[in-house]
Amino acid sequence: MIRIAAVGDVHVDEDVVGRFRPALEELPDCADVLLLAGDLTRHGTEAEARCVAREFGGLGVPVVTVLGNHDHQCDEVPQVVKVLQEAGIRVLEGEGIVLDLPGGRLGVAGVKGFGGGFAGRCASDFGEPEMKAFVRTANESADALGAALRGLDCDLLVALTHYAPVPETLAGEPLEIYPFLGSYQLGQAIDSAPTALALHGHAHAGSERGITPGGVRVRNVAHPVIKQAYSVFHLGEQPDPAEVSGIGPSGTQQPWS
Ligand SMILES: [Fe+2]
Ligand SMILES: [Fe+2]
Repeated sequence: MIRIAAVGDVHVDEDVVGRFRPALEELPDCADVLLLAGDLTRHGTEAEARCVAREFGGLGVPVVTVLGNHDHQCDEVPQVVKVLQEAGIRVLEGEGIVLDLPGGRLGVAGVKGFGGGFAGRCASDFGEPEMKAFVRTANESADALGAALRGLDCDLLVALTHYAPVPETLAGEPLEIYPFLGSYQLGQAIDSAPTALALHGHAHAGSERGITPGGVRVRNVAHPVIKQAYSVFHLGEQPDPAEVSGIGPSGTQQPWS
């Protein structure tokens, strides 16, 4: 069994430092790895990244992240990535990593993803160059995720994105903004490999649970959705691998509701 802790959209700045840390100190007792689903910062500044590093660095378990749209806001992505990497936080964008954990080899493929919408209500590669560029960005992002997933040799495979791969986990958000919250292409990429679990953030007002057309469990781990420091997923258990428990800021195991 592999125990995965996950949270997204922590939007850390100076005023948030210390808020997650007490629960994070207890994380190694209940999880083997922490996955962050992007929007680590508010505006993507190097200074905010240093706050993220202080809060999420040096946990005693591997920490793997993708960036979110907020982490791009100030055009300081290279500096943000450098600060995170120096804190031991692995940043994925269109690539994968295999972690040798006590319960087996966990493969994590990560990409920020992009918008575009979902089947029947999506942007199409037609018309103005700006629209074509928008759709091309979504396609390229999903293609990179699919290639990364299919390229990993591991026991269990997890997809990590910021944008949503299915509409179910957006339930609660205004329908009008669904095309800016995710794309069906990410779901297709996830289904192109034997993915065990897909984690995303971005949809603060969305819902926790969804499933891809191919049957892969999807979980929206945006902090405003899970309302706890992180959720913990046990993979490799029978019969229901991803249905586990959440963990509260106090570190208390609680039933997944
Ligand atoms: Fe966010
Ligand atoms: Fe976001």
